[in-house]
Amino acid sequence: MPSYRIAVIAGDGIGKEVIPAGMAAIERAVRGTDVTVSFTEFPWGCDFYTKHGRMMAEDAYEQLDAFDAIYLGAIGSPAVPDRVSAAIILAIRQRFDQYVNLRPMRLLAGLTSPLANRGPADIDMICVRENSEGEYSGVGGRVHVGTPREVAQQVGVFTRHGIERILRYGFEVAMKRPRRMLASVTKSNALTHSMVLWDEVAEEVRKDYPSVEFKKYLVDAVAARMVTHPQTLDVMVTSNLFGDILTDIGSAISGSLGIAPGANINPERKHPSMFEPIHGSAPDIAGKGIANPIGAVWAAALMLEHLGARAGHDTILAAVERVVANGKTLTADLGGNATTKDVSAAIVAEM
Ligand code: NAI
Ligand code: MG
Repeated sequence: MPSYRIAVIAGDGIGKEVIPAGMAAIERAVRGTDVTVSFTEFPWGCDFYTKHGRMMAEDAYEQLDAFDAIYLGAIGSPAVPDRVSAAIILAIRQRFDQYVNLRPMRLLAGLTSPLANRGPADIDMICVRENSEGEYSGVGGRVHVGTPREVAQQVGVFTRHGIERILRYGFEVAMKRPRRMLASVTKSNALTHSMVLWDEVAEEVRKDYPSVEFKKYLVDAVAARMVTHPQTLDVMVTSNLFGDILTDIGSAISGSLGIAPGANINPERKHPSMFEPIHGSAPDIAGKGIANPIGAVWAAALMLEHLGARAGHDTILAAVERVVANGKTLTADLGGNATTKDVSAAIVAEM
């Protein structure tokens, strides 16, 4: 009887509001099945920082490493500098070698894209973003701070190992999708060291996947293509920074940042993987109870799928699709006037 232990870090702002919706969906999805799930909540984040001077407990990594997965809301508060708060997400990703950041971007039936005349068949892509190195490696520094001679260096770290494993993961994802298309996102015309290595590795790896239609795009061109020809994109494999930016476009054209989920995966399963909505803590709407919980609920579904409870994933996603298609219970970002709790209850009721 499969039993999964999940560490929950709801975090800050609307993270605290949307995570209960995901937990409720999981509890409903596994009820009456042979799967059991237990949640352990950790009060880490910016409030914790204000009280204790650190974002997480000192032995946080040891504690988290004992779980099967981590379910994260959002981290960030106007009271704490973003470079301090965001650091823990990057640190968890690196520490647990969650080198794949997987972000599905779909226009669900019933939602309206800001792109004119686009339907669900046009927007169905998934970004496989490198999540452990690249532009977010954290390498660099500042000298002559505060003087007119001040220098900052932010070094992009690209390794053959890191590039190869993310591309391979991308091809494996593409093999399982009906269209079997892979776009390698590069910028080798301007980033003549890192992205040239990226392209070279892509040329080698693609040989092992002859049934996948491979294309190489410059990042700026692909940004435009997501808007003008989204139907031509299926799997996109990107560096850390490029994927961060492109997935915000992807969630925007899918109707709202509030519906997009993300998975930070350690494919070797040596450490827990982490699942989160891609949005932040949204201080502008926090505390009002109107945040869209769909991104968090979808992330919860991805977590069940990763853990091996595929049926649970399908149950949750089908319920989300029905609630959205029905159109009666939607939050303000999708043009409705329902609360977070209304949408959560509607999803559970559909299951
Ligand atoms: P944000 O994603 O929090 O908000 C951007 C805009 O989208 C806001 O207008 C917000 O109201 C809206 N929005 C976001 N999620 C929504 C939802 N579920 N339902 C309805 N509307 C939603 O990004 P922002 O404002 O740039 O960052 C706020 C804080 O969150 C910062 O401290 C930032 O560092 C942090 N952040 C944390 C992330 C994480 O924990 N993974 C990711 C992005 C930002
Ligand atoms: Mg982002």
